[in-house]
Amino acid sequence: MNDTIMGAPSRRIDGRLKVTGRAHYAADQHPKGMVFAYGVYSTVASGSITSLDIEAARRSPGVIDILHHGNFPQAFHTSPVPFSLAGVLTGSRTDEKRLPFEDNVIRYAGQFVALVIADTFEHAREAAYKVKVSYADSPSFANLEQGLKRGAPADGGQGHKRGDPGAAFDRGTRTLDATYSTPVETHNPMEMHATVALWENGRLVVHESTQSVVVHRNTLAQAFGLPTEHVEVRAPFIGSGFGGKLWMWPHSVAACAAAKVVGRPVQLVVPRAQMFTTVGHRPETRQRMRLAADSNGKLVSLRHESLNTTGFGDRYVENCGGMSASLYSCANVEITHGIVQVNRGAPTSMRAPGAAPGLFALESAIDELAEKCQMDPLAFRQLNWAGQNEQEKLPWSGNHLREALAQGAERFGWASRTPGIGSMRAGHEVIGYGMAQCNWDAFRTPAKARVSLKADGRAQVYCGAQDIGTGTYTIIAQCVADITGLPLEKITVELGNSSYPPAPVSGGSWLTASVLPAVAEATRAALTQLKSFAASAQGGLANAKPEAIKVSNGRLEDGTTSLGFADVLNRLKIASAEGEAHTGMADTAKHAFSSFGAHFVEVRWDPGISRLRVSRVVSAIDVGRVINPLTARNQVEGAIVMAIGMALFEVTDYDERNAMPVNNNYAEYVVPVHADQPEIDVIFLDYPDYNLNEFGARGVGEIGVTGLAAAVANAVYHATGKRVRDLPISLEKLMDDVPTARA
Ligand code: MOS
Repeated sequence: MNDTIMGAPSRRIDGRLKVTGRAHYAADQHPKGMVFAYGVYSTVASGSITSLDIEAARRSPGVIDILHHGNFPQAFHTSPVPFSLAGVLTGSRTDEKRLPFEDNVIRYAGQFVALVIADTFEHAREAAYKVKVSYADSPSFANLEQGLKRGAPADGGQGHKRGDPGAAFDRGTRTLDATYSTPVETHNPMEMHATVALWENGRLVVHESTQSVVVHRNTLAQAFGLPTEHVEVRAPFIGSGFGGKLWMWPHSVAACAAAKVVGRPVQLVVPRAQMFTTVGHRPETRQRMRLAADSNGKLVSLRHESLNTTGFGDRYVENCGGMSASLYSCANVEITHGIVQVNRGAPTSMRAPGAAPGLFALESAIDELAEKCQMDPLAFRQLNWAGQNEQEKLPWSGNHLREALAQGAERFGWASRTPGIGSMRAGHEVIGYGMAQCNWDAFRTPAKARVSLKADGRAQVYCGAQDIGTGTYTIIAQCVADITGLPLEKITVELGNSSYPPAPVSGGSWLTASVLPAVAEATRAALTQLKSFAASAQGGLANAKPEAIKVSNGRLEDGTTSLGFADVLNRLKIASAEGEAHTGMADTAKHAFSSFGAHFVEVRWDPGISRLRVSRVVSAIDVGRVINPLTARNQVEGAIVMAIGMALFEVTDYDERNAMPVNNNYAEYVVPVHADQPEIDVIFLDYPDYNLNEFGARGVGEIGVTGLAAAVANAVYHATGKRVRDLPISLEKLMDDVPTARA
């Protein structure tokens, strides 16, 4: 492996296309004859449709057709067999189990109740406003609190128990029993969900903003009862998704059905307001943490009891306790998950699902327990480091958490922290220092790829993966450059088409670790073919044994002669040398795979004007080998900014009367803007994890989101003495008396 290629800070090879507007996203597709669909969405959260008056809408200009539960074409449910990592190339999945327009039942406000198809977007929208829907509405359950009044939570599974945490808690000398909560957060990628669907002779072609062309293809094939070969999903560019675009949502089926009914291509863009209802969200959680330590500060009992909301008709589990089972060394642990149905659309994965809210609770609670033990929170964590994965009873394939803690603390200047609440000041501002660990499991799934070394001197990669904005195009090109010695400019990467060799979802931070091995093997297979061409009678290296031929700088050499890849092909009049590969999962029987890190956060609190700023973040991250420090750093920085949103701002507010999100727009759903950006310093430890793959790379997309909200809350506590256990840390929660320094 060549350090000047793998591990080098290459700029995005697709960057120019993006900044010049030549990267076409789903809604940029305008196939000939395309018409537009616009949804009519339920204004009640619970009940049924009693009548639909579509006469006025029908007479509206440009209207072609109106679909609803009375006339929607037949569609089928997704296979009930659970989606697994091994089946990532063949699996299907939806988080909202009901198909659109399946019946007249209303389970959440914002559910599709009709779909207007018209010649223009404006005509479709105008007519949609004229559809009159009558409902018999029944009482709705708008939030976790109301849902719990309806009945006890259902078991969400994914539990874990070891030792006797109850007895150990009772024996502990320092104990904590505290409950933390996180609100609904809504994915707000800049590019809204969009589908452009067209049918060609019974084949369905779909341009979709999706994190998985392959799973989306499989899911649509099931929905319409088609062989997967008759469905093609394309997503060469995605304006991000954050998990919201992992699985198919109702709009996609609606658009495909509409295109079938009207016999023309149909475009359906999910309006921003409906991004808050029909395409998933991070559910509300409530997490009770019971922790105990002995007199030396050793953790002896950890119970993490988590509840999350889910929709009626689905069972989404937010795996908040997933990391609590193994991040710390502790003999007595219990993790449980309960789910509570409410009248909201189905929740789904949102960047670091489970871990983001889970580590807010865990890393806040650890901070509180450290204080009870009169220990520095950093020292408490160092003491309770888990030398192996105690849940799976396996050695870590790599765990450099202690170095992350040490390097992060050093760079941040943690040693200058004085422990007293409000004891650090700069002028009229109170400074708080807080820290937390971050953690995300590392995965590797099966993947396929194809590489062509072509007679024009270029290499071309085909892979059914997608680049959701993270740099996948670039690292795949780096991988081919590393093996062939071709410059990046000579490498074309084709992604985002379900007819290419299947690759996993761009999610779970799986893609890099899964796809690079397939690309590497396919490249080597293409080189093997090229060498055998070269060693043939007219190939130019006829005297060499194929296996003795060396590859460097895009050329083949046998010790005496050197030929460019293209020279060999042109001598033989062969278009290309081809290689394909199908690589598998990591061996999870021998090692536990996880990524680790530590966030150090400085906040500044100005009590005079109640202003809170996250002013500085240092994050030390252990994600194995970093393939591209530019795009990887960009991932962690973006995650930190997103997590500042989680810590301080993000909350989807539901009207308690009708369970309708009220801040369903960019103005009122507050996310960090430029003025909220702190100084961010990311340290990559860069220890290769060769147990996971030959490059030693784990994923880097999600880990940065985890733990950060707790680090902020811990810093806020240090500055203000206010322990905010309910996100977001809005100013009102900090705004009464101003603490004075406590020695
Ligand atoms: Mo990520 S929530 O797996 O896209």
